[in-house]
Amino acid sequence: MASTQPTSDKGRRNTGEQAPVIRVIGLAKSYGKNAVHKDINLMVNNGEILTLMGGSGSGKSVLLRSLIGLEKPDRGEIYFHDQEITQLSEEDLISVRKRIAYVFQYGALFDSLTVMENLAYPLIEHTQLDEKQIRDKVLETLKKLNLEGTHNLRPADLSGGMQRRVGVARSIIMDPEIILYDEPTTGLDPYNSKQIINIMVQLKNSGVTAVLVTHDMHTIFAVSDRIAFLKDGVIAVEGAAEELRTSKNPLVHGFIHGDTM
Ligand SMILES: Nc1ncnc2c1ncn2[C@@H]1O[C@H](COP(=O)(O)OP(=O)(O)OP(=O)(O)O)[C@@H](O)[C@H]1O
Ligand SMILES: [Mg+2]
Repeated sequence: MASTQPTSDKGRRNTGEQAPVIRVIGLAKSYGKNAVHKDINLMVNNGEILTLMGGSGSGKSVLLRSLIGLEKPDRGEIYFHDQEITQLSEEDLISVRKRIAYVFQYGALFDSLTVMENLAYPLIEHTQLDEKQIRDKVLETLKKLNLEGTHNLRPADLSGGMQRRVGVARSIIMDPEIILYDEPTTGLDPYNSKQIINIMVQLKNSGVTAVLVTHDMHTIFAVSDRIAFLKDGVIAVEGAAEELRTSKNPLVHGFIHGDTM
């Protein structure tokens, strides 16, 4: 089937900016009778922030998890560059997950470890850095999120907003090529939201590609290049963030102005 081949490399060699780094083709996923994804087709271009919007339960988190092989689709393909990942073994997925970071909806830190230990963990597991290099890298990453001085604390000693920032710090510590953010600012106060938005913009400016899931309009329009709307198992609308902001499309308008779930 022609559409399943990685043929869309036309622009890739000539225009680095527009080259897709992720391609989702004909993805379908059901849980029992619940057909969450019916036919998802989506591209994420190099260096952009693509935001996925959609009602609660529309399958945004399932789609993010699928992009790093945490969910196996029933049908369809996902390409990370030219590598098809839905069929990879857990062992082969390790190398993909080193390059694609996932910021969990709820922090997901190890409660019994200090902030230093939480952040050092992926570096110890996946790099050859020595103890001093790891410590330096952790401190440098904490600084990026204005979390200096927290390294000896445990998650329970931090506010919810700080915990979320530590979660982001842990996700970016491996210098990922792509970051998947699941509701990174939802429920946060303006200060903590702003810290996370700042780091998202900084990472984007340094060329990191991202997929963002959020309902938070402020975050969406502060960072997104493009927006894709997930509804009834397909990408119902997709376009540049600026275009969609003023769109008259009832679905888009409803989401942005809070008339639609
Ligand atoms: N492991 C699972 N087993 C069974 N059903 C699941 C599983 N994971 C997700 N689902 C179902 O898939 C649907 C989509 O879930 P998902 O978490 O992706 O929604 P979402 O768009 O992220 O919603 P929210 O905005 O509330 O986070 C839901 O109906 C959910 O109940
Ligand atoms: Mg979700």
